Amino acid sequence: MANMEQIVSLCKRRGFLFQSSEIYGGLNGFWDYGPLGVELKRNIKEAWWQDMVVRHDDLSQLPGTPSPYSMTGVDTTIIVHPQVWKCSGHYDLFHDFMVDCRDSKRRYRHDQIVGRWADAKGKRAFVTAQAGDEAEQQMERQAMKFFNLRAKNIEELNWEGTTICLTEIASFEEVLGPEAKALGTLTPPREFNLMFKTTVGALGGEEDAAFLRPETAQGIFLNFKNVLDSTRFRLPLGIAQTGKSFRNEITPRNFTFRSREFEQMEIEFFCHPNESAEWYRYWRDRRLSWYHELGISPERLRLREHHEDELSHYSTGTADIEYAFPFLAAGEYGELEGIAHRGDFDLRSHSEGKLDEKRRPLEVELGPDGKPKWRGSGKDLSYRDDLTNEKYIPHVIEPSAGADRATLAFICDAYYEDEAPDDEGKMQTRTVLKFHPRIAPIKAAVFPLVKKDGMPEMAKEIYLELKKRFNVFYDEKGAVGRRYRRQDEAGTPYCITVDGQSLLDKTVTIRDRDSLEQVRLPASECLAWISERILG
Ligand code: GAP
Repeated sequence: MANMEQIVSLCKRRGFLFQSSEIYGGLNGFWDYGPLGVELKRNIKEAWWQDMVVRHDDLSQLPGTPSPYSMTGVDTTIIVHPQVWKCSGHYDLFHDFMVDCRDSKRRYRHDQIVGRWADAKGKRAFVTAQAGDEAEQQMERQAMKFFNLRAKNIEELNWEGTTICLTEIASFEEVLGPEAKALGTLTPPREFNLMFKTTVGALGGEEDAAFLRPETAQGIFLNFKNVLDSTRFRLPLGIAQTGKSFRNEITPRNFTFRSREFEQMEIEFFCHPNESAEWYRYWRDRRLSWYHELGISPERLRLREHHEDELSHYSTGTADIEYAFPFLAAGEYGELEGIAHRGDFDLRSHSEGKLDEKRRPLEVELGPDGKPKWRGSGKDLSYRDDLTNEKYIPHVIEPSAGADRATLAFICDAYYEDEAPDDEGKMQTRTVLKFHPRIAPIKAAVFPLVKKDGMPEMAKEIYLELKKRFNVFYDEKGAVGRRYRRQDEAGTPYCITVDGQSLLDKTVTIRDRDSLEQVRLPASECLAWISERILG
């Protein structure tokens, strides 16, 4: 497995990812996808949509499910009525705690600072660093500077206890911030809402304030009734959506893993409350196997059920699909996707705006000032089963994946350095991205062996034929070995070469990126041969 430096360098060099606004020095937490990156991410989103929505068989009962089910999709707006965020809980509850450093002027997430007690030369400090695989080294560097020690006096530095999170420290008087020079420069933790605020319309007053969505999910809940009323779907029904979400993360980091603008792939699956536990287990297992099917190494992927105290405000059960990203310490995993049992929280809170005889909202939690914390639309968002006539508020299972995190995981997982023969037959180290053919940005590259004798003409003909169906690349420049290497780095699974024999018998060779094996077949069969392998 590569380290993060190799991944970031390859992404920039080969045009997978660039820092947003790079020529102006960049903007922290925002990333642009380049020519290869945009294809990769589109293919991942397309594979998700195809596998979850389009190819879903709604006539058969799948193993592990109580009944057959339907799947469909929507594409809803990024800005919605501000009341939506009151009812979803994001307005009141979607925040992180942050601490500021008065010395370095840096801002950190409270739960992402780790530290350890240390003493030297009669002084004592809780020395901190940002959590991550470099944390221990950073703490040592900070401690050496703070205690004014040289490398040769390192034995004078005494560490006490183990590394713990800053959240476990009550007073910051003896805390040395990750980039501070003195003790006690961190402010007490303060709440910080993660939603980006904007203004709708020209007046720009507080009444026109709106928010960029922090999740695509709410747009699905808002349209639950519209989807049912405009189609003939019955429950159980999953409604899918992909799209941008925005979170003003306090410490965006680890490349695209924690960004401020990112894309989600979410399903809200509406079902009968009595069947929801079974559906939760079904979706948890199905989503895990989706990553396996697309080639992610099972040993780097795990499913983790949340403890009760980790659950979101709406959830009665959540599991995370996690990947061992290279920026994490050995044995640590980062969230790729969450599968949450949301119960009836969302439909109920968007619905219950009805007033009682004293004009008070029914069943609405009151804030400390005695005013309702949120007020629903007042619309009835329950479901009536036309066969049984039963009326109920459906329960929701939500598999919620991040398209950017998935893209990063697929890149990290695909990265290998191995050996392949060069043009002289000598083994050389090569960098290769072993993407599953379905998600590879370029499906095939077509090369004439040399730039003469009619080979380019025949190669171009094959290229144009394949291009009608997939993203294909034509390259006639340089030694063929070098051209193979460039495609290996881009993750192109198949390279088609037109050589001398091709001109005689209309055959070509196809080289497999991973096995390096070459097969010869009639040029007219290339399209079918590749289609069979990439369409999955
Ligand atoms: N609707 C539920 C929801 O949004 P979440 O766990 O907050 O749940 C779901 O987000 C997924 O969205 C995460 O598993 C992750 O893949 C992606 N995601 C969340 N925050 C992100 C961020 N700041 N940058 C990149 N991806 C993010």
